[in-house]
Amino acid sequence: MIKHTIEKSEIIRLLKDEKEDILYERADKLREEYVGDEVHLRGLIEFSNICRNNCMYCGIRKDNPLLKRYRMSPEELVETARRAADIGFKTIVMQSGEDMWFSQKIMCDIITKIKKFDVAITLSIGERTYEDYKAFREAGADRYLMRIETTDKNLYHKLDPNMSWQHRHECLMMIKELGYELGSGIMVGLPEQTIESSADDLLYLQDIEFVMAGIGPFIPHAQPPLKDAAGGTLELALRTMAVMRIMMPDINIPATTAMESLHPKGRIRALQCGANVVMPNVTEGEYRRLYELYPGKICVNDTPTQCRSCIGIKIASIGRTVGLSYGGHNGRLPQKAKL
Ligand code: 5AD
Ligand code: FES
Repeated sequence: MIKHTIEKSEIIRLLKDEKEDILYERADKLREEYVGDEVHLRGLIEFSNICRNNCMYCGIRKDNPLLKRYRMSPEELVETARRAADIGFKTIVMQSGEDMWFSQKIMCDIITKIKKFDVAITLSIGERTYEDYKAFREAGADRYLMRIETTDKNLYHKLDPNMSWQHRHECLMMIKELGYELGSGIMVGLPEQTIESSADDLLYLQDIEFVMAGIGPFIPHAQPPLKDAAGGTLELALRTMAVMRIMMPDINIPATTAMESLHPKGRIRALQCGANVVMPNVTEGEYRRLYELYPGKICVNDTPTQCRSCIGIKIASIGRTVGLSYGGHNGRLPQKAKL
């Protein structure tokens, strides 16, 4: 991973004061130079909205009694992945709340089956044990996504009661050691979050050498305790993402769904100021709506095929192409780890 070293004071200046068009153009140029014009698509399956955690900001937190819960069966999940592979996705991202019904054995079985569809597999299922991460990797999982959310430990512990920042960080380190391609990310616009704190977040992402990182604006949810918070803006998210591209020019950066939920052109704008990945939703039916991390989520009434073609048209409209490879860091899949 290539790092461009920037002083914290300069990161803060870029986040706060740099003229938008100059910042975005610089990030866009670096994106073009280091990762090219291809946009890599990942088919996102939201397979369970059951979660043992209670993050204050999150719509699927355990103590949200108003949400109808669902859990796909393993067969349903494998079938959803098969259909996503059939419509051309080369990466399947399996995401859920921290739903422990999906034991090590059940997950490994699912991974083994999905791997047969000739796709890269990304897991985004939160904090598990070292043994679980190891077994998933051996079963064929290539990548793992888990956001650190914020590096302000006080804020983290206020927002995620009963969770430990240190433990999350340690999980990320285990995943890295196991040879996954590791992705993380942060939210911007959290209550009490400052620009200085976002600068620290970016320095952390660079220091750990994540090869994928996403920035999402925090969008207050009507249910959880933070419903009256102000939330993040698209501009703040784009600025933070652009600075991240400048600091980490060759990583994979998604244009996040939360960005588009704030503005109909959110993802296209992101692709023009540093992003090179989009994760269209391939979840089917009612599940899409029920996986409601935040309100105003896009595409809840669309089908996987609609999202695939919609995003293809949008990408073409800005003169970019859809990548046909697995689209890993440096164009590779991680080597099978010697475990
Ligand atoms: N607004 C924006 N992003 C959210 N996430 C969870 N809740 C919200 C919200 N209210 C993000 C977190 C999590 C990812 C899956 O979704 O960063 O890691
Ligand atoms: Fe889902 Fe546009 S990406 S409809």
